[in-house]
Amino acid sequence: MSSTDQVYPPSPEFVAQANANEAMYSRAANDPEEFWAEQARRLDWAVPFTRGLDWSDAPFATWFADGKLNVAVNCVDRHVDAGKGDRVAIHWVGEPGDSRDLTYSQLKDEVSRAANYFASIGLVAGDRVAIYMPMVPEAIIAMLACARLGLTHTVVFAGFSSAALRARVDDAGAKVVITTDGQFRRGEPAPLKTAVDEALGSGDDAAPSVEKVIVVRRTNHDPDLPWVAGRDVWWEDTVAEASPVHEPEAFDAEQPLFLLYTSGTTGSPKGIVHTSGGYLTQAAYTFHNVFDHKEARDVFWCTADIGWVTGHTYIVYGPLANGATEIVYEGTPNSPDEHRHFNIIEKYGVTTYYTAPTLIRTFMKWGRQVPDAHDLTSLRLLGTVGEPINPEAWRWYYDVIGGNRCPIVDTWWQTETGAHMLAPLPGVTACVPGSAMGPLPGISAKVVDDNGNELPQGEQGYLVLDKPWPGMLRGIWGDRQRFIDTYWSRFAEQGWYFAGDGARYDENGALWVLGRVDDVMNVSGHRISTAEVESALVAHPAVAEAAVIGAADETTGQGIVAFVILMEESDDHDALITQMRDQVAVDISPIAKPREINIVPELPKTRSGKIMRRLLKDVAEGRELGDTSTLVDPSVFEAIRSQRA
Ligand code: WTA
Repeated sequence: MSSTDQVYPPSPEFVAQANANEAMYSRAANDPEEFWAEQARRLDWAVPFTRGLDWSDAPFATWFADGKLNVAVNCVDRHVDAGKGDRVAIHWVGEPGDSRDLTYSQLKDEVSRAANYFASIGLVAGDRVAIYMPMVPEAIIAMLACARLGLTHTVVFAGFSSAALRARVDDAGAKVVITTDGQFRRGEPAPLKTAVDEALGSGDDAAPSVEKVIVVRRTNHDPDLPWVAGRDVWWEDTVAEASPVHEPEAFDAEQPLFLLYTSGTTGSPKGIVHTSGGYLTQAAYTFHNVFDHKEARDVFWCTADIGWVTGHTYIVYGPLANGATEIVYEGTPNSPDEHRHFNIIEKYGVTTYYTAPTLIRTFMKWGRQVPDAHDLTSLRLLGTVGEPINPEAWRWYYDVIGGNRCPIVDTWWQTETGAHMLAPLPGVTACVPGSAMGPLPGISAKVVDDNGNELPQGEQGYLVLDKPWPGMLRGIWGDRQRFIDTYWSRFAEQGWYFAGDGARYDENGALWVLGRVDDVMNVSGHRISTAEVESALVAHPAVAEAAVIGAADETTGQGIVAFVILMEESDDHDALITQMRDQVAVDISPIAKPREINIVPELPKTRSGKIMRRLLKDVAEGRELGDTSTLVDPSVFEAIRSQRA
């Protein structure tokens, strides 16, 4: 057996105590309806549901539609009511080294205060609230307060630019924006509220939907923080002053819980709609089983930001629905130094650590002496998400971080799927490094060719989800047709969801996800569309045309490489390239800045005028060119190559 297909079975000790078991697969397959209903009953329903899936208006699904529940009550109050109020919900660690623990009782008070204030300013169920905040407890409190009132939150990653924030606020029609005065970046305070001011504009340009901006004091860096009277209020003067007693109302299972904007193959980000009962069911079920969560023992840590779906499902809804104790860390992994994560694991006795392959590869670069300087024996389970993990990084994670003791769950899912879809079950599955192994009980996936024929083991094709699942997106905000076109048109005849990823089953039946097959890039686990970056580049006055591709990158998975044609020749390419990168940061986010911009005389196009990105990828990755026979002018590459040399 070669080292690449070495399998890692769970230890007998792990198996003996695991939440999951083999029988779940057959139970779910034999009666999915009953299996999911059983999972949904893990939640507290104010009005019990009598129905599961309704697929009569496919691809628009409902789940448990006649039931009513309150998501915040499920994540907070019910644990307090069960006598667990003194348990720590959140161990929060600030970047400068400050920290704060919130018990479930305290969390309930804080969420209730926020709910009371939000209601007092006239917000009613169905209204949208934008949250643009660093990783402070108030961000989670704000999300839960929205959930408590049936408001729909849309969290915008605080690394996004003001232009990106504005686009999302407008699309969602948000009435309120919640932010902080500033955020810490590698120990230094950086402004954030001013980005909100810029985004919301004034006068004729003012964001039409926004009535209030609530500001949490975090950095306190600016005594003259710009303030719009009547619109802006401090959290400390409003929420913090409100009553900690709030009577919750129950909402329909299909009440929209959040919108989360994500990149697609076309320019404008789309607002993925998630609702309450089905989403929370799958979030809670996967958290319990895939992380083998035991409430009395575990300290869970998901290192994502709440600006991404991973933060929604595995920092907020999944852990809290299960009454977990978790770490929420505000900053970067190397602030103040590379020991930060390991210090936190050691200090709080973290048992379950969930991160992205890109960070594992960064740890590898820093060297094993960093984790080796710490006692990491509290760890018992490790997880990864966001991109395929290369087997070498998997083994390093297993050995150096997990002490050859902890199962690793490689979890494949998407903003659209709401929660884990493919993953091993710890205590059940023998893992193959680099493979997400297969669909979880209750989930169904296939690998198919262009015509929807299932492919034999070993052959590479498209990953499709051929059965609806409770946490599935319910649509794209305000655009029914785009939802159908984007996800359901590729295999319309069969009625399957097309995930946008390539995959294959290996000869032992393990499922490997191979990365996006569309024009979506994956940089450090962040989804960025080529079209979005191209339109930002073309917005620069000197740029006539741009083509962007994701090229393989050792640390970040993919790196963004751009090829641009100028309006007119210039002798200062370096200055232009700097300006173009800044343009992308302003239009989207610094995370979308191209790693490399090549100024070229021409772009390779087919006779029908399509840019051949595949060939640009070959160039960027230093490969021999693929088939160039459909190109108008193959000599274009000589010119491109000479520019890069
Ligand atoms: C990729 C993140 C391989 C995939 C939760 C997917 C993965 C996209 C994995 C969704 C994994 C996520 N193995 N690829 N374990 N997890 N991906 O919406 O390409 O930010 O389509 O959701 O990330 O990214 P998103």
